[in-house]
Amino acid sequence: MPSHVRISGRRAGQRFDAERNVATEALLFLGELDPEAIGPSIVHATHYEPTPVGDLDALLAHVPLALERTTFVDLGSGMGRAVLLAASRPFRQVVGVEISPALHAIARDNLAAIDRSSLRCRDVRLVRDDAATYAFPRGDLVVYLFNPFDGAILVRVLDALAKPARRDVALVYHTPVERAIVEDHPAFELVAEIALGAVYRLVARSDPAAAGASRHKASIVTRPSSMLAPHVTRTPCQPKRSQPRPGNVDPNTAPT
Ligand SMILES: C[S@@+](CC[C@H](N)C(=O)[O-])C[C@H]1O[C@@H](n2cnc3c(N)ncnc32)[C@H](O)[C@@H]1O
Repeated sequence: MPSHVRISGRRAGQRFDAERNVATEALLFLGELDPEAIGPSIVHATHYEPTPVGDLDALLAHVPLALERTTFVDLGSGMGRAVLLAASRPFRQVVGVEISPALHAIARDNLAAIDRSSLRCRDVRLVRDDAATYAFPRGDLVVYLFNPFDGAILVRVLDALAKPARRDVALVYHTPVERAIVEDHPAFELVAEIALGAVYRLVARSDPAAAGASRHKASIVTRPSSMLAPHVTRTPCQPKRSQPRPGNVDPNTAPT
């Protein structure tokens, strides 16, 4: 294939699924899936859409932590695409946290179906929980967000991560629609941004002055930050009020 021809995200996703005997490629709205089981956080949730194949690797390249001693947490893990992608890297542990019981069940089926020898992380877990109240594991963390919810939940996640603990935390935010909330939070500083999203880290608690002074600074900037403004229409994961794009809902992967 000529190098300038890109496989569409959907075709690459279908190939990802076929090669691993899993089902992750779909676009689903929680209100049409299992709203009664989700609770009040549903009003803050976006829809289910998997991370495009390749995007997570591009973002993880900017994470300033040693993966071998770090736990990857996907908040809003859906059918588990990002969990499976992360588990192919040498993380100490990989955790997916999903609020929808139906999506969580599919992720569990996917994890059961995959050839574990293809994963470099041996400790992969799926949790059915609300990110707003989730208790993070101890130790160094990479917390991944593919635009799963609005600022009301995000601020609760940031506050939980900012609680005193002797650890390093990197926040990897794909399609950072609510990036202003992270950048206004004194405990986080921007360390890198690319067209897909931004990487932040928890500022050392012993240096609160640095938290304020270093906000909005990036050590690696490959695109202007305006590329990431919320109004940009290339947003791959749109807010929940958006209608499905024609032909983008796959009834074969939708749970009954
Ligand atoms: C855009 S999808 C991302 C799926 C997955 N992270 C990936 O990249 O392949 C967002 C997911 O966040 C979930 N979600 C929304 N609000 C949540 C919350 N408060 N707690 C946990 N999961 C939530 C949705 O159900 C949906 O599966």
